[in-house]
Amino acid sequence: MKEGFNTKVGAIAAAAGSAVGLGNMWRFPYVTGENGGAAFLIVYVAFTLLIAMPALLAEFAIGRMTGKPVTSALLELAPKKKWFLIGFMGVFCSFLIISFYSVVSGWILYYTWLSASGGLAGLGEAEVAEAFSRVSGSPAASVFWMVLMVAVIALIVSRGVAKGIEKWSKILMPVLLVLILVMCVRSLTLDGAAEGLKFLLSPDFSKLTPKALFAALGQSFFSLSTGIGVMATYGAYISRDQSLSADALSVAMLDFFIAFLAGVMIFPCAFAFGINPGSGPGLVFVTLPNIFNQMAFGSFFAFIFFLLLVVAALTSCFSMLEALVAFGVASLGLSRKRSTVIMTAFVLLGGTCCAVFPAVFNLFDNLSANVILPIGAFCIVLFVPLVIGKERYRAELEAHGGKFGSFEIVYFLTRFVVPLAIFLIFANSLLSWLGVDLFG
Ligand code: TRP
Repeated sequence: MKEGFNTKVGAIAAAAGSAVGLGNMWRFPYVTGENGGAAFLIVYVAFTLLIAMPALLAEFAIGRMTGKPVTSALLELAPKKKWFLIGFMGVFCSFLIISFYSVVSGWILYYTWLSASGGLAGLGEAEVAEAFSRVSGSPAASVFWMVLMVAVIALIVSRGVAKGIEKWSKILMPVLLVLILVMCVRSLTLDGAAEGLKFLLSPDFSKLTPKALFAALGQSFFSLSTGIGVMATYGAYISRDQSLSADALSVAMLDFFIAFLAGVMIFPCAFAFGINPGSGPGLVFVTLPNIFNQMAFGSFFAFIFFLLLVVAALTSCFSMLEALVAFGVASLGLSRKRSTVIMTAFVLLGGTCCAVFPAVFNLFDNLSANVILPIGAFCIVLFVPLVIGKERYRAELEAHGGKFGSFEIVYFLTRFVVPLAIFLIFANSLLSWLGVDLFG
């Protein structure tokens, strides 16, 4: 039987589940903190709407046109051409991302357990920092929690697209929303919360350096899970009577809304306790537990917070494992069961390498988010005008029988604006890595 989502809500929950992840809860706040707050936020919104969303839509369409996962879809649409190599690159990149992502998810699971069992309560600042280095610096502990996390993901994905991924996304996404709203209420009612909101809402444009633009671009692709064909694979599961543009818009809006709520949850907290929100990746693991410890009922809120992160991480990992499993089925001819077992074994191997060797962790992280995602998105977006063509693309986006009013605008973005923007920002950052500074 062909895999697919059973309902419209389920398809959106699964795709939004993929989009909403640690990228929203962990990466977005510290990247925003490091790049100046509100000004960054404005650029991020613009990039999400004008650049990442057209890319997401292109992925959905490529998947649904063929009903196949990304590599097979590109091969079917462009036989005898080399486009399918982008599919390979994407599948490989899914492996890179899920490898380090599941290690971070494992740490989060550990923190959830720690806060539930009272292990975080009453620790001083140095002890909290030590608790983090105890798990992140210990290969055995990192591997242990990563394996637990991967086991849960594999169990759910092995049940199939509708019975596993869709069903669980439909349960977990509302849970996530409730948990984050609880945290936002807590954060906004702290004394001094206004400062944090001001940081998030009043822009300082002097902070908008080329580096910040690049960070915003990378973050918008990463957050919408677009650029490596994971969403094309999900697109293959979307029914033809659904409007892909409406789905892409819902996913992008949900994703942004949750990232924004994560900002509302974290910045007022940080400011209320006099902590610099630009403190980098440690924000979630060191800074926030310290803040919770100074709060009434802090252990409870710490638990809710980390549970929220576990939920977000789970639904994102579904999509990456599914991209690997679907590749195994469609391109390697494996049965779904066998593919799940083999791909899970690879993920465990990749995760272990990331847990044991910090250099591998950093390599996988940088290579995927900063290099492969922009290149992949660039190619996928150009695939639309170069291979699919305007009228066929329109036909796919209107296959549900409705009219897509903004088609001309979206096609223009897809054909010119998105590739050009990716090229410019990418070239600039490449040059600055090589030591040449075009714009300072
Ligand atoms: N979007 C997820 C997040 O924000 C991460 C993610 C899941 C992802 N699947 C992806 C990123 C595919 C890039 C490609 O955390």
